[in-house]
Amino acid sequence: MSERVLVTGGAGCIGSELCAALLARGQEVIAYDNLSSGKREHIAPLTNNPRFRFVEANVHDPVALDAALDGVSFVHHLAANPDVKFADDEPDRDLRQNTLATAALLDAMRRRGITQLTFSSTSAVYGTSPVQPIPESQPCRPISLYGATKLACEAMISAHTNLFGLRAWVFRFANVVGGRVRKSGKTVVSDFIAKLRANPRRLEILGNGKQAKSYILVGECVDAMFHVVDHAQDSFNLFNLGGDDWLSVTRIAEMVVEELGLNNVEFAYTGTEAGWPGDIPRFRLDVSALSGLGWRVKHTSEEAVRSAIRGILAIS
Ligand SMILES: NC(=O)c1ccc[n+]([C@@H]2O[C@H](COP(=O)([O-])OP(=O)(O)OC[C@H]3O[C@@H](n4cnc5c(N)ncnc54)[C@H](O)[C@@H]3O)[C@@H](O)[C@H]2O)c1
Repeated sequence: MSERVLVTGGAGCIGSELCAALLARGQEVIAYDNLSSGKREHIAPLTNNPRFRFVEANVHDPVALDAALDGVSFVHHLAANPDVKFADDEPDRDLRQNTLATAALLDAMRRRGITQLTFSSTSAVYGTSPVQPIPESQPCRPISLYGATKLACEAMISAHTNLFGLRAWVFRFANVVGGRVRKSGKTVVSDFIAKLRANPRRLEILGNGKQAKSYILVGECVDAMFHVVDHAQDSFNLFNLGGDDWLSVTRIAEMVVEELGLNNVEFAYTGTEAGWPGDIPRFRLDVSALSGLGWRVKHTSEEAVRSAIRGILAIS
């Protein structure tokens, strides 16, 4: 049965793919986004669909948010500051955009009696885990304000499931990649492409290149979200979401060089173990809970990143 669904961050890289997939499943979709890092062009292909509506507004705007929630029965909450790096000029950015925005949304949903929510959390909540791959039960010791404020969001959501009858699906995403680029907040792939276009002979790589992380294609990420919502029925459902392999930063640099058709590029490492303060040098997710529900990634991290490089090169 068709239901009205609101996607915060619906003009973002993941949110716009989620909106398209929800429309394909027959839902009525409201994308709610202030375009701080999202782009209108991400949702442009959806705007002709009569079941799609875009609301340009901030989650912190209580009047706009309440109006957008009218008739909504399910919320996918992706709006956030997506950049893990600390912003010196905006030290409270993560608190405002992540924790306080989530608290505002939860309160608006409670007042409207809306009881179904997915939340895009992150593997950054774990910090530098001594256990690899990292299970959901691993204690969280975030090393960035991004990770800390996302963990606070999870805690707020958990409390709402206990107090107010909310049912929630919380996803700790691996690095999600695809052919879309944010207006602000770089990813490793877009950073390398931009740098190599500026200087095709030398690539500055933050860190020692040995950082190794797990990557998943955005389409597969969205598919996994649906699968978990359809199959996990607790009031508070928490899942690592990704594959179980990892890929080094140097290998990503090599792939970007290959895809740009370049040769003899000098890799200039800044040399530290982490790329920047707050960067988690190595992580792999234990995804046995996800596979226990019958869902596995179809592409390796390397295949996902290769596809993202090609997608970004095709549009930029
Ligand atoms: N991409 C990844 O690798 C990754 C990994 C882990 C978690 N996540 C989480 O997934 C979600 C989506 O990430 P993404 O990669 O698509 O980033 P994105 O920047 O493309 O999407 C975030 C969207 O939220 C919007 N937004 C931010 N603050 C808002 C506010 N106050 N009100 C309304 N809209 C607001 C932005 O304009 C943007 O469109 C984020 O919550 C992010 O933290 C992403």
